[in-house]
Amino acid sequence: MSGRFQFLRQGLRAAQQTPAFARNASTSAPQSAAARVALSNRTAVALSLVSAGTFAWYSALYGNPLVPEAKAEGAADHGLHPAAYPWAHKGPFETFDHASIRRGYQVYREVCSTCHSLDRVAWRNLVGVSHTVDEAKAMAEEIEYEDGPDSEGSMFQRPGKLADYMPRPYANEEAARAGNAGALPPDLSLMTKARHGGADYVYALLTGYVDPPAGVEIREGLNYNPYFPGGAIGMARVLYDGLVEYDDGTPATTSQMAKDVVSFLAWAAEPELDQRKKMGMQATIILSGLLALSIWTKKFKWAPIKSRKIVYNPPAAKH
Ligand code: HEC
Repeated sequence: MSGRFQFLRQGLRAAQQTPAFARNASTSAPQSAAARVALSNRTAVALSLVSAGTFAWYSALYGNPLVPEAKAEGAADHGLHPAAYPWAHKGPFETFDHASIRRGYQVYREVCSTCHSLDRVAWRNLVGVSHTVDEAKAMAEEIEYEDGPDSEGSMFQRPGKLADYMPRPYANEEAARAGNAGALPPDLSLMTKARHGGADYVYALLTGYVDPPAGVEIREGLNYNPYFPGGAIGMARVLYDGLVEYDDGTPATTSQMAKDVVSFLAWAAEPELDQRKKMGMQATIILSGLLALSIWTKKFKWAPIKSRKIVYNPPAAKH
């Protein structure tokens, strides 16, 4: 190692010194042609040494970049790239589709909530987004929450309130793993932000279950899904046509339910989205108005200065 560094250092020093010589050459006495050739040769040698040293150093750290490496991983290990779906809330001027969020909540409650928690969403968050106050209250009251301690020091059960958070399906991680053959169903609150591909990925995952291609062995208890990195996921396909019955009459196809639950999860992960875009619009309108005003003011104030004419009248010559 030290030999190579020595090499590098010499190379660098030579390279650093060269411009100084070159500068002298241009300002002081002209150099002979032979001296100039020697100088440019030295520069070329120094630069070659620097690049050879850098290449050797890089190769020692990461392997030779010119020789292709055999890797024990394929494209499938990173998961198939999901398509870009036309989400209602995608563009800069679009808001969430709230009817879809409401249906998506129903899918979460009836299907996903048996395995996945949603720790960051409270009942009150649904109010005005997908449900009315009374609906949210009624849904919260159906769930028993532990509270206390009471005046005797013991914990007690009470019906849920708007301020309570969504109940968890499992008491702890161990219970969740035990119920899912060792795999942990992750909390879904921030899922569309937590995974590469976001909402597109979750949608593709939910609708992407297929039979494994020839030659791909999937271990007992795992399922093949090309969108999941590695291809083998602990969660089985959960959405099937007609699984839930929507109260607005929308046909509950697999893709419809996947779209709705992903819209719901996108809202859960980013509830401020509608407000943020609205404020962004307001800021753009106000700031562009102010910009136009300041440009006009600047032109107004500078106009007499820019358009004035300075004339020099020489004193009349005295005879
Ligand atoms: C029977 C239990 C079960 C149900 C029901 C279920 N999941 Fe899962 N889910 C799991 C398990 C277990 C994992 C972890 C898989 C793994 O890591 O291999 C998982 C993982 C996930 C992941 C993360 C994938 C990743 O990239 O890590 C998402 C997203 C997900 N589930 C969404 C949903 C949605 C949405 C629903 C409802 C439509 C749902 N799940 C219903 C058990 C379930």
